[in-house]
Amino acid sequence: MTVKIAPSILSADFARLGEEVRAIDEAGCDYIHIDVMDGHFVPNLTFGPPIIKCIRSWTEKPFDVHLMIDPAQAYLEEYATAGADIITIHAEADKHIDRSLQVIKGLGKKAGLSLNPATPEHIIEYVIDSLDLILVMSVNPGFGGQSFLGSQLEKIRRIKSMIGDRNIELQVDGGVSVDNIKTIADAGATVLVAGSAVFNKSDYKKAIEGLHKAVG
Ligand code: DX5
Ligand code: ZN
Repeated sequence: MTVKIAPSILSADFARLGEEVRAIDEAGCDYIHIDVMDGHFVPNLTFGPPIIKCIRSWTEKPFDVHLMIDPAQAYLEEYATAGADIITIHAEADKHIDRSLQVIKGLGKKAGLSLNPATPEHIIEYVIDSLDLILVMSVNPGFGGQSFLGSQLEKIRRIKSMIGDRNIELQVDGGVSVDNIKTIADAGATVLVAGSAVFNKSDYKKAIEGLHKAVG
């Protein structure tokens, strides 16, 4: 089985962010996962469009921008201009999910919808045909290095069956490691975010290869 690996730069060395992005590119990642946090929707703050713009020239790999911000709609164009390829909003942070997804598509970007651990999957039912990616949060968003919530495996399976033969990526974010990646991929995930499982290792290439190997 082949899955995509999206290292989260949340766990990178922020003082050397450009070099870190180049390093995971050269190590063979598929996407660059960029965690944007606003200190309001989640209890942590990271960065916004200016920093995304600065690291854009360090790689040609897709920028997978995970917006943990509320509100998001007013800022979508700024993230598109800064270099995002995929823009993922949170279902819990948006009263007008359908409209935001149309805005993202109108900007020529891929549209993603993310669900927190307690959010049921039925929220995607009436927007599924506007989605390029569905993100299942397998930790409570805000921090890297937390443990995978096993409760999300059933949700991953259910969403996989809702997707059917549509061309939609199923991304899982939080607590992914060599020890659980196979179970998560077997449940239906096609893109695995890995923060500490890559950046806490000295050899990023080995870490990414190890994740692929564990999937088998
Ligand atoms: C959490 C972020 C994740 C996180 C993953 O809010 O969305 O992307 O950085 O980090 P690990 O893989 O360490 O759980
Ligand atoms: Zn994320």
